[in-house]
Amino acid sequence: MHALITGASRGIGRGIAEHLASQGWHLLISGRNLESLEEARQALLSLGAAQVLTVPAEMASDQDLQAILDAQSAWSSRLDALILSAGVGTAGTVAEYPSHRYDKTFAVDVRAPFKLIQGTLPALRAAAAARPEIGAKVIALASIAGVHAEPGLAAYGAAKAALISLIAGLNAEESASGVSGTALSPGYVDTEMSAWTRQTIPQQSMIPVSDLVEIVAALLRMSPRTVLSNIVLNRAGEHGGRA
Ligand SMILES: NC(=O)c1ccc[n+]([C@@H]2O[C@H](COP(=O)([O-])OP(=O)(O)OC[C@H]3O[C@@H](n4cnc5c(N)ncnc54)[C@H](OP(=O)(O)O)[C@@H]3O)[C@@H](O)[C@H]2O)c1
Repeated sequence: MHALITGASRGIGRGIAEHLASQGWHLLISGRNLESLEEARQALLSLGAAQVLTVPAEMASDQDLQAILDAQSAWSSRLDALILSAGVGTAGTVAEYPSHRYDKTFAVDVRAPFKLIQGTLPALRAAAAARPEIGAKVIALASIAGVHAEPGLAAYGAAKAALISLIAGLNAEESASGVSGTALSPGYVDTEMSAWTRQTIPQQSMIPVSDLVEIVAALLRMSPRTVLSNIVLNRAGEHGGRA
């Protein structure tokens, strides 16, 4: 089985990559930092991955996205799973959020997933045809901020809401033929990305990466007859509806 995973060098993408490695999958992983990618490659091989290719890429660069797509098509004619974990998000109010940060957020969190889904669809369709009992799966890391509005997260939330909608649109067009998508929309997950908020939100109250990995593992085992377009993961407690 073949999976392409963006943002695989750390955090949620890394957790998913480690699970797939332990199941003996062939992996194509991406991130910006070469050293982190190489470290991840070695670790994934030692966990049992059949093969690990790396493509360093900035998600906001069309050239880099094309490099991922070229590597994927040269690597395998089928893609069983496309995991879109690379994402950016910074806090800031609508009143003051700078345009360049808004543009970067939408480029990385919406445009890159769109381009990667579009470019890998032939390989996803081929995998779905080869394994009709499972189909091919697209899993995209959105956020609870894309579901519930929260002060200071409007730009990030808008980008993640667009990503959730993109996945729903993919399902409307492709799921009857076996290619289906799921957006995962968690509150704060205990990774480097949420480290800035640990002073106000205790680390031990954040969602563990392992819980997201459990969901991904189940999605990758499920039949294509069930479509879970968006899964919202709340943190426990009275403020769980917030990020
Ligand atoms: N952590 C949370 O609280 C939380 C909550 C809800 C949703 N999410 C979403 O979950 C996803 C993964 O988050 P995480 O917590 O795992 O983050 P993380 O620990 O910061 O890891 C991010 C990964 O993406 C790569 N990456 C970051 N920016 C990139 C860019 N511009 N181009 C290419 N690769 C990039 C990073 O590698 P390099 O730095 O080497 O590029 C790294 O591998 C994101 O989409 C995020 O929005 C996170």
